[in-house]
Amino acid sequence: MRQPDTRIVLGLHRSRHERGLLESALDLGIRTIDTAFNYAGFRSHAILFQTAADLLPCFFVSTKVGFFPGAGGRNDHSLEPGRLQDALETTAATLGQAPDVVFLHNPERSLGDLEPAHAADHLAAAAGVLTDAVAAGLCRSWGISTWNPQPVLAAAIAVGPRGLVRPWCLMHRAGILVPARVLDAIDDLAGCLEVETERRWGMSPFGGDTGDSVWRTLALRPFMAAGEECSTAAAAFRLAFALPPVGRVAVGTNRPEHLADLVRALDLGVDGHNVERYRDMLARRQAHAVAGSRGGVAAG
Ligand SMILES: NC(=O)c1ccc[n+]([C@@H]2O[C@H](COP(=O)([O-])OP(=O)(O)OC[C@H]3O[C@@H](n4cnc5c(N)ncnc54)[C@H](OP(=O)(O)O)[C@@H]3O)[C@@H](O)[C@H]2O)c1
Repeated sequence: MRQPDTRIVLGLHRSRHERGLLESALDLGIRTIDTAFNYAGFRSHAILFQTAADLLPCFFVSTKVGFFPGAGGRNDHSLEPGRLQDALETTAATLGQAPDVVFLHNPERSLGDLEPAHAADHLAAAAGVLTDAVAAGLCRSWGISTWNPQPVLAAAIAVGPRGLVRPWCLMHRAGILVPARVLDAIDDLAGCLEVETERRWGMSPFGGDTGDSVWRTLALRPFMAAGEECSTAAAAFRLAFALPPVGRVAVGTNRPEHLADLVRALDLGVDGHNVERYRDMLARRQAHAVAGSRGGVAAG
């Protein structure tokens, strides 16, 4: 059994929820799993309890609330305090333990269409529910998990520094596929919420699918330290800790051998100078695109 290492989070979004994978994770020193109220057709918590109740106390368990069963099998999103509270209570009861973290799941889905002041009220109310849940023992800490951070950033700015209780952690996309505007927004959001690097969790380092053709064309060697020999998947995973800098990365796999590859990739060296140059280039291109769109609006 390997020494425990907190940097890898085994994400269960696309997982078959097999007990064997959880056992392999523990053997490999992986001590964090991430799920959500809506994963596995809203059955993830129940499956975990049924198949691995004895293993759960060995893990730091994170989950998320925000999506609810909707009509016609849809996932409805809501930040309505009563629904969040029900989900928090159901989560702790179904898992048989208080989760270590509960994330507010993609709050942008409910905030995106609102005026900033209105969005700010909704975000602050939802944050209040999560804070109260910690005080009530329904979870040990709370965070925000966001795929498209811009609406969350706008709401957090509108709430103002004194109006919003700070989350303990922030989960966001990470890795070479993350667009420049998203990288900028997540850095700004982390700054606004005062979440330090160690408490930032990257997610989806492969954009959900290593079978995508992009992975056959990307050459990541220039980002790795001199002399490092590794697969594109290993390099992409290691880079997810640097683009942007995060303390943990949530990654999905159903294959223990892939988990082992990911653990080995943690030891790879990165060429920090080239990573910085890449981010500078992205920032310049983003500034250029923003200036271009402003010019376009003015001209139009
Ligand atoms: N908004 C949110 O809150 C949100 C959104 C998305 C994701 N997440 C979190 O992030 C986690 C990961 O995201 P994700 O599953 O969407 O995407 P991902 O981790 O970027 O990609 C998963 C894919 O990568 C493959 N893979 C993993 N390790 C590999 C390796 N060593 N070599 C080759 N292929 C490998 C897996 O295939 P195999 O099964 O064949 O290994 C799977 O197809 C989720 O489970 C969830 O915890 C959160």
